[in-house]
Amino acid sequence: MNVLGIDIGGSGIKGAPVDTEAGELVEERLRIPTPEPSVPDEVAKVVASIVEHFDWNGPVGVTFPGVVVDGVIRTAANVDPSWVGVDAGRLFGGATVLNDADAAGMAEMTFGEGKGRKGTVLVLTFGTGIGSALFTDGLLVRNTELGHLELRGKDAEHRASARVREEHELSWDKWAERVEEYLRHVEMLFSPSLIVIGGGVSRKAEKFLPHVKIDTPVVPAGLQNEAGIIGAAHAAATGAS
Ligand code: BGC
Repeated sequence: MNVLGIDIGGSGIKGAPVDTEAGELVEERLRIPTPEPSVPDEVAKVVASIVEHFDWNGPVGVTFPGVVVDGVIRTAANVDPSWVGVDAGRLFGGATVLNDADAAGMAEMTFGEGKGRKGTVLVLTFGTGIGSALFTDGLLVRNTELGHLELRGKDAEHRASARVREEHELSWDKWAERVEEYLRHVEMLFSPSLIVIGGGVSRKAEKFLPHVKIDTPVVPAGLQNEAGIIGAAHAAATGAS
């Protein structure tokens, strides 16, 4: 089944039709910068323009960078706070809407590095914020929000997200130290058997992952930054939202 997957991020909104059995994009993705301010109506216009660009009439899955319960937005750390309380499923014309990291995580567990993995697997996405998806024997615990764990008295994503590396012009080594400290904390709390690193930085894993030394195996996302688009489409196809 082909489904249009759309991944709303703090800096870009990306979409492409996805073959949900193969877990692959079937057309080149379209990326449009996230409007500023990132208020619901403006973001909805971008989502509509992506639907139009692909001349799409079929099912649509959309990710959102915050807590989503039954299509309703509950938190908005990296987009406009006016999202809180918005029924995004309705705003996006009946699309399936879910948390961005949960979507990326489901894609990784179905098609990527987590495929067939039992036990506790954590998929952590490093981008504008830090997103998390927690799996036990392949089952997702939704909306875990581990990017907001406290680290040195701060929200962890304010110390270790990919945006922090760019904004503070940290070297990859320096940033890797922060990522390692964060992963140690998560490792202590959950004793995962595998940690999968997603988000845009997964494409540059060789620059920082060799410096991250923890006991748990840590691997870059197999689907890289397309995991969100694929997971959004997969959720709409399987009704997992
Ligand atoms: C949000 C999460 C989201 C993550 C990645 C965090 O700030 O609270 O819901 O998954 O950023 O976008």
